[in-house]
Amino acid sequence: MTSHPGRPTAVIVHPGPLGGSVVAPGDKSLSHRALLLGALSDGNVEVTGVSPADDVRSTADCLRALGAEVMLDPAEDGSLAGTIAGTLRPTDMALDCGNAGTGMRLLAGVVAGLPGTTVLTGDDSLSQRPMDRIAIPLRQMGAEVTGGGERVLPPLTIRGGGLHGIDYTSPVSSAQVKSCVLLAGLRADGKTIVRSPLPSRDHTERLLRFLGVDVRSTEGDDGGEIVQLQPGPLTARPLHVVGDPSSAAFWLVAGAIAATDVAVQDVCTNPGRIGYLAVLTALGATVERSGERTLCGEPVASIAIRAAGDLDGACAVSGRQVVDSIDELPVLALAGAFSGGGLKVDDAAELRVKESDRIDALARAFDAIGLQIQTRPDGFTVPGGQVPAGGGTVDARGDHRIAMTAAIAATVSRDPVTITGFGSVPTSYPGFLPDLERLGGHVEIIWTHDEERVR
Ligand code: S3P
Repeated sequence: MTSHPGRPTAVIVHPGPLGGSVVAPGDKSLSHRALLLGALSDGNVEVTGVSPADDVRSTADCLRALGAEVMLDPAEDGSLAGTIAGTLRPTDMALDCGNAGTGMRLLAGVVAGLPGTTVLTGDDSLSQRPMDRIAIPLRQMGAEVTGGGERVLPPLTIRGGGLHGIDYTSPVSSAQVKSCVLLAGLRADGKTIVRSPLPSRDHTERLLRFLGVDVRSTEGDDGGEIVQLQPGPLTARPLHVVGDPSSAAFWLVAGAIAATDVAVQDVCTNPGRIGYLAVLTALGATVERSGERTLCGEPVASIAIRAAGDLDGACAVSGRQVVDSIDELPVLALAGAFSGGGLKVDDAAELRVKESDRIDALARAFDAIGLQIQTRPDGFTVPGGQVPAGGGTVDARGDHRIAMTAAIAATVSRDPVTITGFGSVPTSYPGFLPDLERLGGHVEIIWTHDEERVR
């Protein structure tokens, strides 16, 4: 495959180890935040390095519907760059957040601060994701939030304005919940405090501080996280989005399981995002970091996996390490299968409420390619010493991270792997297939977006 006519929705990935170097695409979590905080700033904000992922485009469109002038154009490196200006106001148009849980939950915090009513919708997957976790604190702050049933499923209707600061204890360690409450807190009449059982990625706090807002994070006696925010104006400053560690993880795992050299440049090394590097190290991989620097409050570095032989370790992941590697657990499961001692994951019930039930989707994908996995309500165990037979068809069930995990598995399988539901990949990583080929991967496209059979 040399070009990508339309959007591949089904592909065959052929066996063959990956190796070499790629640049990480702009981080999705940070891109949502750069757009949202840019739109809340007191002037014209220049943004660079923004992810071209569908989720991020949805957030940009929602902000436009709310009255922001969001001008983004493709830069040479494939990222989006441009400016954000204007003042947000509620709109009669429903805001379509697409597949983006982060987009919806963070936007909910923003529109809760706007006097008026706003409706947030999403695709079929997002419409199944629980929003009670943000509805509860937003209601305590004074917003009216309605959705479907007890779990407050989207579409969400939010009547905002007149918010009060609260001291909220979240039952889940979720950066999306924490960020939603902090963004609402920006428009509240006093201090807002968010307490979580464990610390989670702190991109919102770092970016708010970078823009001049008083945000303090401390650790509670029980090891929990306490974040306090004083409402205040956001000073417009140029924002650069650094590379996505979650996208980088696919290539680094590919190198670790094939025992090849793989390097990814410009990766965000926020500790809340790179828990997976410690897991790879425990499984026996050699991980090197170089060129560490800080950009717009976020640490960034190049990360390399060195061909150092087989993975001879074992790893048990639980507690904080789960939060710090939550989106990488599916691809880490693959590394576990290739290791000597396997991978055990506990405390990861959150995986069941992601873009799919990721524990179930992972088990089905592993079954299709001939890998063993035992699942539990809040985790899974992958025995070590396995090699995927391949040859089967993985239905990614519309989940981008399951689709990309299956593609990486195929590179080390005995036979090619067919992956359906691959059209979900641009949700987070539109450049995945070109990068796979850059690293030596072989892909055949079977179907494209418009249901045209290519082969
Ligand atoms: C995200 C936080 C995580 C993560 C998601 C992105 C964010 O979700 O799984 O992909 O950008 O804040 P939770 O905060 O719900 O764990």
